[in-house]
Amino acid sequence: MNKLYFSDCLKVLKDLHSANSEGFIDLVYIDPPFNSKRDYNILFESIDMKDTKAQKEAFSDTWSNVSYIDTINEIQSLDLDLYSFLSNLDSIKVPKGTVSYLSTMAIRIYYIHKVLKDTGSFYLHCDPTMSHPLKMICDLIFGAKNFRNEIIWSYNKWAVSKISFSRNHDIILFYSKDMDNISFNTLFQDRAASTLKRFGKKKIVSGFNDTGERLPSQTLEEESPGVIMSDVWNLPIIAPSSNERLGYPTQKPEKLLERIIQASSNKGDLVADFFCGCGTTIAAAQRLKRNWIGVDISHLAVKLILDRLTQPYPARRAKIIRENIQVSGFPSDIDGAKMLARETDNGRFRFQDWIIEVMLGGVANPKKTADGGFDGYLPFYLTQDKKGNILIEVKSGTIGLKNIREFIHVIEKRKAELGVFVCFEEQVSGETRREAKQAGYFESESYPGKYDKIQILTVDDLLDGKGIALPYRKEAFKTATKNLDYITDDPELPFE
Ligand SMILES: C[S@@+](CC[C@H](N)C(=O)[O-])C[C@H]1O[C@@H](n2cnc3c(N)ncnc32)[C@H](O)[C@@H]1O
Repeated sequence: MNKLYFSDCLKVLKDLHSANSEGFIDLVYIDPPFNSKRDYNILFESIDMKDTKAQKEAFSDTWSNVSYIDTINEIQSLDLDLYSFLSNLDSIKVPKGTVSYLSTMAIRIYYIHKVLKDTGSFYLHCDPTMSHPLKMICDLIFGAKNFRNEIIWSYNKWAVSKISFSRNHDIILFYSKDMDNISFNTLFQDRAASTLKRFGKKKIVSGFNDTGERLPSQTLEEESPGVIMSDVWNLPIIAPSSNERLGYPTQKPEKLLERIIQASSNKGDLVADFFCGCGTTIAAAQRLKRNWIGVDISHLAVKLILDRLTQPYPARRAKIIRENIQVSGFPSDIDGAKMLARETDNGRFRFQDWIIEVMLGGVANPKKTADGGFDGYLPFYLTQDKKGNILIEVKSGTIGLKNIREFIHVIEKRKAELGVFVCFEEQVSGETRREAKQAGYFESESYPGKYDKIQILTVDDLLDGKGIALPYRKEAFKTATKNLDYITDDPELPFE
């Protein structure tokens, strides 16, 4: 069973380690935020609403406010060298935000090392902003002798600075848990055009005699598979118009992940990505018939991954894929939903975000208002090219006529086409339903049918798979493509 966790990966890593004292994962790739002092925003389809930002923060890549002293102290009980390294950085002129970022990464990499098998490999995707201290951290955790490569992923991008060379590469640090035991499949690349012209596809061998003198190179008649792949990988970034692009910032190309997975795992192995974003590693692992674990702290990421894995396939196949994915961190039944709503630590807001983003595929309103506003929205198509809006209100506690009336008022004020009101079953009375009915109907210009303007959906309804009654719906995100052209291998499933 493949597993998708909606959680901070540190919690998952600690749980996995305490449940398995021996390492059990064959390959870990991570592509964490780079400490780029930038907030990444997911761009949503723009919607015409005055005071609603059409963007929502997907995750924040600024670390300066994170309290890191606790993390450094925790590291003291785990690894004294790592502790000394981080606390010394803290005592010199390194910005606090950098120390905070590095401590956050160090403790996670410490546990990644623990959950890897002895034959396992670790790939850390970063860029020149932080690759130098991250390499020190990995050297301390994995042992410098287990450093295998600094892979340069080079691509073409438009230059943004005129006072430096154009920055056209990322760095991927590759470590083995134990270089004497490493499981690695040598990959080959074509020989340079000039060599091919001279020798054709023949194998070139050179060597030394007993006294150490170099022997002249000889060509053998045998066909060679090419030369051993270099650590400089020239692979294009995902083009804006590509079918592969899902709209998630920092999405990496599947080709990059295919290469890593092919080199450092075999069919049936377990591959994990603890910062999995929109699931590039997961999608490549699934196609290459590996088992996988994905973790991300963002609701949006987890929802996108489920869609990405299932949408390209016909319903029956999609169902089998979905049944093979265990999602942890989201409620799966009504008791779990109630528990989440009641949690003291922002439970009510996490409950709202879960309903809006995971169950309804909408966008949670970044402005959390008590009443008189709306909790989320979902753009949809009124005609082929004209968009409308559904506003969403989620209530986890008691509701009365007042709440419905207020919501109807918000819908009218914002000129939204539809409103969806979500609450628990026992909170809806016949009176509330009648009040909602009185708001009338919505009729589309292009698509047939009459739809209640205010729709009350209960959490039970949503868990049963019932959704908003709509003439035609378009996701806020580009949906996973049904055209698998960008994928080189066959899209056959690992089961069936
Ligand atoms: C650079 S993106 C990964 C992109 C991914 N490789 C892809 O191709 O889509 C980093 C991801 O790390 C997630 N993230 C940030 N902090 C996290 C944490 N503590 N635990 C788990 N995920 C986290 C963010 O939500 C974001 O999706």
